Amino acid sequence: RRHVLSLADFSPAEYDTVLQTAASFREVLSTRTKKVPALQGQVITNLFFESSTRTRSSFELAAKRLSADTLNFAPGTSSLTKGETILDTAKTYLAMGTDMMVIRHKEAGVPQAIAQEMDRLNTHVGVLNAGDGQHEHPSQGLLDLFTLCTLLDHDYPRVDLLRGKKIAIVGDILHSRVARSNLWSLTTSGAEVHLAGPPTLLPHWFAEFVKPPSKKAGEQANPTPQPSILPPTIHWELDPALENADFVMTLRLQKERMTSHLLPSLREYHQQFGITGDRLQRCKPSVKVLHPGPVNRGVEISSELMDDPDFSLISQQVTSGVAVRMALLYLMGSGKG
Ligand code: CP
Repeated sequence: RRHVLSLADFSPAEYDTVLQTAASFREVLSTRTKKVPALQGQVITNLFFESSTRTRSSFELAAKRLSADTLNFAPGTSSLTKGETILDTAKTYLAMGTDMMVIRHKEAGVPQAIAQEMDRLNTHVGVLNAGDGQHEHPSQGLLDLFTLCTLLDHDYPRVDLLRGKKIAIVGDILHSRVARSNLWSLTTSGAEVHLAGPPTLLPHWFAEFVKPPSKKAGEQANPTPQPSILPPTIHWELDPALENADFVMTLRLQKERMTSHLLPSLREYHQQFGITGDRLQRCKPSVKVLHPGPVNRGVEISSELMDDPDFSLISQQVTSGVAVRMALLYLMGSGKG
């Protein structure tokens, strides 16, 4: 595909292609040179209009491991501060020979708008959404999927390994682009997804949003039917979501996206929805905990649990991110240049 803007229309076969390509790059990363010449001569531009540690550095490292040249745009020191528009900024990087743009913005839809402009101008540029507002964070969804699937089969990760697994996604679902991307991938995999959070951060209308596409009379709702898709179950209490869970995904309280009346007291939130060693007793003994980061230590997850390698997959998620982003850049870029 030309652009990766959302996981909403990814098929199981496409997930498997990304997972298996990432597994190959994981092997490359374990060699002494850690590099392949796959995207030599290509230019990959990171356009991060919103702050990031993991995603920006991981995309940059992934591009370098593929031997591409990288450009990093920093909004605070750019001509954005002189009034240049986002689209003109993107066109400036296009004129320098950019082949792929990795875009993060606090508003939903900006990567889509740039992709549309690149298509309108008839360019070959591919656009990757690196997180847009509350909408989606596809590369995070894919690296979470890779982290889970490689735990179940290190050498041959594939989505069907998650069929029937109980996965609890806990916390600020309303503002989480990570939750939205994971909902698409995990429900497509056939996992049993449970969402848990306070009613202000998991409103009742969310149930409508997460229903699988319905089929109108005489119309095929999805060209590749996926009968295993189950709608997620919504809980306003934590315990039922944790009961017998295989995996628990915690989410950051996104204070920067909340009006003050939505923000629970952090102590109260931790008491009701914070993941601790005690709370994990309800889950399967083999349970593992994920968090996309950055973490509010002691709020979404206890500090001890976060650092406990028997339960926490947080470091593995970051490590997986490089191989998964190499796979994405490679699959999008190997036909270019
Ligand atoms: N998970 C994630 O997107 O982290 P950053 O904001 O640090 O990129």
